[in-house]
Amino acid sequence: MKMGIKHRATAALALFSFNSLQVNAWGAGGHEITATIAQIYLHPSVLPQICALVYPYTPPKEPCHLAPIATWADRIRGLAQYRWAAPFHYVGGTSDWPPNKCVFGEDGWEGKDGVNVLGGIWNTTQWLKDGRPGAAEAVKFLIHFLGDLHQPLHMTARQRGGNDIKVHFHHRITNLHSVWDSRLLSNSILDTPHNYTRPLPSPRVEAALRGAIYDPLIRSIIWEGLLQAWKDDLEEWISCPTLDSRSGPSIENQQLPLGSSVSIAEHDARRWDDDFVCPYHWAKPTAALNCEITFPEELDWAPNSTDPHPAIELDTPRYAGKIRKRRILEKQLAQGGIRTAAVLNGLFANEDTKQTGFLYIPEV
Ligand SMILES: *[C@@H]1O[C@H](CO)[C@@H](O)[C@H](O)[C@H]1NC(C)=O
Ligand SMILES: *[C@@H]1O[C@H](CO)[C@@H](O)[C@H](O)[C@H]1NC(C)=O
Ligand SMILES: *[C@@H]1O[C@H](CO)[C@@H](O)[C@H](O)[C@H]1NC(C)=O
Repeated sequence: MKMGIKHRATAALALFSFNSLQVNAWGAGGHEITATIAQIYLHPSVLPQICALVYPYTPPKEPCHLAPIATWADRIRGLAQYRWAAPFHYVGGTSDWPPNKCVFGEDGWEGKDGVNVLGGIWNTTQWLKDGRPGAAEAVKFLIHFLGDLHQPLHMTARQRGGNDIKVHFHHRITNLHSVWDSRLLSNSILDTPHNYTRPLPSPRVEAALRGAIYDPLIRSIIWEGLLQAWKDDLEEWISCPTLDSRSGPSIENQQLPLGSSVSIAEHDARRWDDDFVCPYHWAKPTAALNCEITFPEELDWAPNSTDPHPAIELDTPRYAGKIRKRRILEKQLAQGGIRTAAVLNGLFANEDTKQTGFLYIPEV
């Protein structure tokens, strides 16, 4: 059952206030949904440890959740002392220009070496593995970056990840980045079947929810996606290529022979992946979405030309409708959540149960 027009209008108003706060980042909603899904798949020993790290002096009054921790990195983004962190939220392959050309590291990367979301995930993971001081900030950044890794427009440098591309959505002027940060998500929330306003028969799922406007969407992602449609894919989502199939870490400490068939770009493209966390490998299919679907063909204009089209409408069956039907956004959120859970379990779960990439599947 769909929401009636009137309900939809009221909900849209409520959403508008939360969306309008969001500039330049996988909206707060996207990060919170990803973190909530992650929380459902955490080993029971993990959340208390993260909460003790993040709130050492002033534990939150009521159950500690991953969702507010996940949005911290955007909340502090404007502060002078965190300005250095801004470029860690995204990555862009040099000469990448969707929808015409999608390259992800083959020609190197935009920006300073390692100062991007892939390097950020690798760095914060090492930080936590090594038990260095500053773990509280590292874990907050890590959870956030693993969310950003699943927003396709954080995986391209074209026109600041689409921030500079004006489009219409539901007759309002906006930009392509914000369509993916929040507008498509609002549509998914509004279109979630009404039966998901009721609790699922899973205490683990329900305990992770916080009475948010997107709770029904999370239930539907768990129920129809993670427990059914994608049930057999989870193992693959959290796995990383083995050392043999990767040239990364071993090459790093070696001189590259002249004329080596492994180009510097190839080397760069792989250096952030290891057996435990592999942001490059995980992000590659998300980056490919930019040529498949994120940038519609109307946006295929040459790099230095000015936009030859009037801002196109994207809340159409051909664009937003197709994305919804294929559950692309839902799948990105689900993958972000599952990978976040696997990484946090690997870093924090009690020693006796520690192993790479395990998940705690909720019982229903
Ligand atoms: C990780 O980040 C810290 C802080 O910005 C930096 O000093 C360090 O060089 C980084 N390490 C790597 C391997 O990128
Ligand atoms: C909710 O309704 C949809 C159909 O709209 C159905 O496919 C799904 O199984 C239902 N979910 C639950 C939890 O009953
Ligand atoms: C576009 O402009 C930039 C500088 O603004 C220049 O470096 C680049 O070569 C130009 N690209 C093309 C395809 O003309």
